[in-house]
Amino acid sequence: MSKRAPQSNDEFAWARFDPEAYVAHYYADPHPDDDEVVRLTARALAAGAGDGAIDTIDVGTGPNLFPLLAALPVARRVSAWEYSEANVAWLRKELAGGRLRAPWAHFWEVARGAHDPARAAIAEPIAALSAKTDIVQGSIFDLPPRQWDAATMFFCAESITEQQEEFERACAAFAGAVRPGGVLAAAFLAGSKGYQVGAEDFPAVSVNPAALEAAFAGIAGDIVISAIGERSEEIRSGYTGMLFLTARAR
Ligand SMILES: C[S@@+](CC[C@H](N)C(=O)[O-])C[C@H]1O[C@@H](n2cnc3c(N)ncnc32)[C@H](O)[C@@H]1O
Repeated sequence: MSKRAPQSNDEFAWARFDPEAYVAHYYADPHPDDDEVVRLTARALAAGAGDGAIDTIDVGTGPNLFPLLAALPVARRVSAWEYSEANVAWLRKELAGGRLRAPWAHFWEVARGAHDPARAAIAEPIAALSAKTDIVQGSIFDLPPRQWDAATMFFCAESITEQQEEFERACAAFAGAVRPGGVLAAAFLAGSKGYQVGAEDFPAVSVNPAALEAAFAGIAGDIVISAIGERSEEIRSGYTGMLFLTARAR
């Protein structure tokens, strides 16, 4: 029996990505691995900002507020760059909702604890976030170069295609969106073979530390990769653990 060819990003039904099913499956019951990623991201962005304020972008935000909350205390503006119209609609509604729903209130507490207390003393985080955020419907492959001071990405480049070349192109576009010297912080599923959201199947490229290092070596410096929650079996669809990367854009 012949193996089918790896499929590309545009062969999957991103408009049918079900945001509520995704949140219920991955985030309704916050996992310590996610808390760790939020903390590491907040610290990386705080280090990048120093005493100033930075323009940040999160790529492939999906139905997830923690990337934006991790940036909130140090961000001048936050861009949420997402491809699926279903997820863009979810983001708009969630930011207009007037309060941080569970589990986002939990993740805000984690992000807040990792930032300087004075900068993170934000009385109405959802209102502050809504005022600073630009939600853009766009593809990672169409990111403008060198526009932001820092970029974050969670489970996007490796979770949007089965093709190694496309994964590497997505990583390059992500890193290229940041001005030279700016902070990159990103989490990747380790060894994933794909995932299900509701009834829909979505792809993955299986990533290990060496593959990640190779994807970023030519486009970023100061690369640090750490494994979070390595396990032998899946605890959620497509998830056995993750790799967290920080780097500086070239
Ligand atoms: C596994 S989800 C990750 C969502 C979220 N970042 C998180 O941390 O849970 C992958 C996301 O990538 C988005 N996506 C798919 N193709 C994309 C593309 N070409 N450019 C940007 N985002 C894309 C999907 O719509 C989805 O929101």
